[in-house]
Amino acid sequence: MSEQQLFKVTIDNITINVAPGTSILQAARSIGGDVAPPAMCFYSKLQGSGGKCRTCLVEVSKGSEKDPRPMPKLVASCRTTVMDGMEVKNITSNKVNEARAGVVEFLLINHPLDCPICDQAGECHLQDLGYEHGKAGTRYEFQRRTFQKHDIGPYIQLHMTRCILCYRCVYTADQLTNKREHGVLSRGDHSEIATYIEKAMDNDFIGNVIDVCPVGALTDKTFRFKNRVWFTKPVDAHRDCPICAGKVQLWMRGDEVFRVTARKDEWGEIKDTADGKTGWICNDCRFEKKNVSDWVIEGPSVINRHSVIAQGHYLGLKQPEETIVKVMHGQNPRFFMDIHDVSEVNRLGIDLSLIEGPATSDTFNELKKD
Ligand code: SF4
Ligand code: FES
Repeated sequence: MSEQQLFKVTIDNITINVAPGTSILQAARSIGGDVAPPAMCFYSKLQGSGGKCRTCLVEVSKGSEKDPRPMPKLVASCRTTVMDGMEVKNITSNKVNEARAGVVEFLLINHPLDCPICDQAGECHLQDLGYEHGKAGTRYEFQRRTFQKHDIGPYIQLHMTRCILCYRCVYTADQLTNKREHGVLSRGDHSEIATYIEKAMDNDFIGNVIDVCPVGALTDKTFRFKNRVWFTKPVDAHRDCPICAGKVQLWMRGDEVFRVTARKDEWGEIKDTADGKTGWICNDCRFEKKNVSDWVIEGPSVINRHSVIAQGHYLGLKQPEETIVKVMHGQNPRFFMDIHDVSEVNRLGIDLSLIEGPATSDTFNELKKD
């Protein structure tokens, strides 16, 4: 059998070879890091996902080897496949950065800035995007959308005001459970996720909609307001589950299991299990098994060190070698001075809380004169 011909594609000046049919987004992910555009609606485990949010826009500066003309508009990288010789700009394009900032502004038009009380804070893709591209204020002057509250059952909390209509949860319900239980009602700025008759979504696998939701629109009622995710410690664990693969991540504090989720990869998508299947987990594992004794703990999960969740958890990090002791032939360094003794600025007698307004150099110059 002849070897499959690969396409050469250059993204942000890095050239790789990928199989025909690969999307620009997937090609960029194979390079990794910042070269991969953000994706709020595409989910590689869900058929038909992508093309809704426009956060993954990129500039195609050369269409292909055969037709090198640039594409006239920015394109959604999750829905555009690579061509041989294509050249793409993501973080190296000013146009893309400006457009992405505009997309974030649009996504935040109706989204409340309630990160301080939202359970998704710390692992919310929109929060990250807002931080990277968002503006300090909004230009929107109209009333934000409000919604009639829907109770979608005992396990899942729906906050429609936070939904960005990415359709991931709809595809999950459609493709993972054996009967579709919710969908998007209405069109345009009237669209909303709802169960048709407010019935409980009691399917065995419906809890996975929480994991795929990129924002805090669908959260776990059993974890709601119990803890901030960066105060918990994620560990990998498994159990012999008759319904799913039973390979999960426990979010613990001390010996208490606060939350159970599926394991996620570096793109925030549910990881595949060893046999190549997506590691969706069942409601029983997710919502009902909150005792350590229910699980076999495998060890601390590896968390991206840039994530706020990694703060305070130094997993898998190697302690750097202590060079001062080495160059001093095994002697510990001694401190020869105390900064308070030698610095004018750090004079102990200055009580900053008694100074009106922020301290400036004048504050210290005034004190120096005394
Ligand atoms: S509820 Fe979440 S997953 Fe569902 S469409 Fe809204 S943002 Fe997407
Ligand atoms: S991830 Fe491509 S349009 Fe949303």
